[in-house]
Amino acid sequence: MNTSGDHAFAGDSTAAPEVVPNEEALSCTIEQIHQTLASRGWVHLQGAKPTDWFDAISARLGEGMFRADVIVDPGKKFSQEQKRSFRPQRPSSYQHDGLQFHTDAREWNILGFYCVEQDRVNGSSRLLDVGDLEQVFSLQELECLAKVEVCHLRRDPQTGSEKIYPTPLLTRAANVWLVFYAPWLMRDTYEPEQHVMLERFRSWLQHKEETCAIEVRLKPGEALFLNNNRVMHARKPIEPSSRRHLIRTSINTGVLGRDVSA
Ligand SMILES: [Fe+2]
Repeated sequence: MNTSGDHAFAGDSTAAPEVVPNEEALSCTIEQIHQTLASRGWVHLQGAKPTDWFDAISARLGEGMFRADVIVDPGKKFSQEQKRSFRPQRPSSYQHDGLQFHTDAREWNILGFYCVEQDRVNGSSRLLDVGDLEQVFSLQELECLAKVEVCHLRRDPQTGSEKIYPTPLLTRAANVWLVFYAPWLMRDTYEPEQHVMLERFRSWLQHKEETCAIEVRLKPGEALFLNNNRVMHARKPIEPSSRRHLIRTSINTGVLGRDVSA
C-alpha cells in the first residue's frame, strides 16, 4: 500500500522546516510527531533534511537510548554473532536477507530512522500497525497473550554476556496494550493454551502482512518515526552489495498514549 500523501507532513512543504529549526519550530514539529504517533503510530517526514535536524528531533522526542548505523556489513554481523550467547545466528540489522515483522526492545517507545543512502532497487521499510488488537481479540484472549513470554535480551554489565529478561508479548499500560514481539525471541515451548493463542496471533499477523502492510521508501535526508510498542517493522531482502544506510535512534518516552478519537 502506498501511503504517500497520507500523513501529517506529506506534501506540505511548510510543515517541516528545511534546515535545523529554531526552538519554537522544533517544539511545533515535536508536538506534531507526538500527536501523529499517538493517533496513527508512525510518521514519515518527507523532504531532504540534514542529519543534525534528525538528531535534534530525536533528542527532543524523549530520552535517547541508542543511535546506530543500519547497513549491510558481513564483518559487523560476524563480530556481533561472536558476542551473542542467545541464538547467535538470529537476525541482525547488518544482514542483507529480509527481516520479518518485529518490534525492537520493549523499553524503546519510539524508533527513528534517517536515510543517509537508499538501496538502489528498493530497501523500503515495511510497517504493520497492530493497534487494532482490541477489535480482534477478546479481553480474555488478550490476557492470555499477556502471559506469553518473549525473551528480551540485555547484556550483563559485569560479564558482558546476554541475559534473558522474560517480557510479556502484551502489556497493559494506561489505555493501550503495548506489543513486544520478534519471531526469533520466542521460547521453544509454551503452555498449551498460550501456544494456541500465540499461533492465532501469528496467523493474524500473517493475514495483516498480506492485506495491510505499509511500505515507506525513505529518500536520502528523510526520516521515519514509529511507535515501537504498536507498529512492527520489517524489510525485504536487499543485495549483498547494497549501499543502503539508515541511522536508527531508539527513544524512551514512557508510555505513548493512544488518541482514541483519531
Ligand atoms: Fe528492528
